Amino acid sequence: MIAPSILSADFARLAEAADSVDTADWLHVDVMDAHFVPNLTLGLPVVKSLHAATALPLDCHLMIDDPDRWAPGYAEAGAANVTFHIEAANDAVQTARAIRKAGALAGLSVKPGTPLEPYLEVLREFDTLLVMTVEPGFGGQEFMAEVLPKVRLAREHVRAGHLRLFIEVDGGIASDTIEAAAEAGADVFVAGSAVFGADDPGKAVEALRAQARGSMNV
Ligand code: DX5
Ligand code: ZN
Repeated sequence: MIAPSILSADFARLAEAADSVDTADWLHVDVMDAHFVPNLTLGLPVVKSLHAATALPLDCHLMIDDPDRWAPGYAEAGAANVTFHIEAANDAVQTARAIRKAGALAGLSVKPGTPLEPYLEVLREFDTLLVMTVEPGFGGQEFMAEVLPKVRLAREHVRAGHLRLFIEVDGGIASDTIEAAAEAGADVFVAGSAVFGADDPGKAVEALRAQARGSMNV
C-alpha cells in the first residue's frame, strides 16, 4: 500500500491534496506537537475535517507526548489507523486496546535508534508497525538504509506466524529507496515529498506502487 504524507502538501488545501492522490491506499497524516518532535503540524480538529472531506482511509502518525491520553481520540475522529511512538507511551498495550475499541487499527512506531527486540511481544496487540527510516519531525530527509534490519526482523516474525502486522516504512521513501524497503519486507510505504513534490501526485503514487510490487518480499 502507498500512503502519501500530507506533510508535504499545501496545508491550506488539504482536501484538494487528498483528491490529487485518490490512487493511494491510505492518506498519511503526521501529527506533531513541538514536544516529542521539534516541529508542530496539526491535531484532532483538522483530522476530523479531513475525514469528512475525503474517502481515503486516514493513517494518523502521532509524533506526540502522552499518546496514551490522545491516541484513542484520533480513532474516534475517524482515522483508519492510529500509530503512536513507543518512546512516548506509558502503557502501549492499554493504548492499543483503546484505539482498537474505538474502531481503528492500532500502530506502533519506532524511531531509527530504537531497537525492535524488546517490543516483539507487545506487537501482538498491534495491527501496524511503523519503522521510521528518518528521525521523525520533518519531511524531505535522507532515507536511512541502516534501519532496514528492523523491517527484516519484523517480517521474519510475521512469516513465522508470531505476529500479524502491516509493516510500514516512513521517511525518505522515493523511487531510489522504495525497492530496498520492499525487499526488506515492508508492505506499506509512506511518501511525502516524492508524491506531493511530483507534477502529478496521483501518478507518482501509481509509479511507486508498481516499483514496490516488483520487489515485494512478504
Ligand atoms: C517525518 C514524517 C513523515 C514525512 C515523510 O517525521 O513522519 O511522514 O512526511 O516525508 P518524506 O517522504 O518527504 O521523507
Ligand atoms: Zn509520518
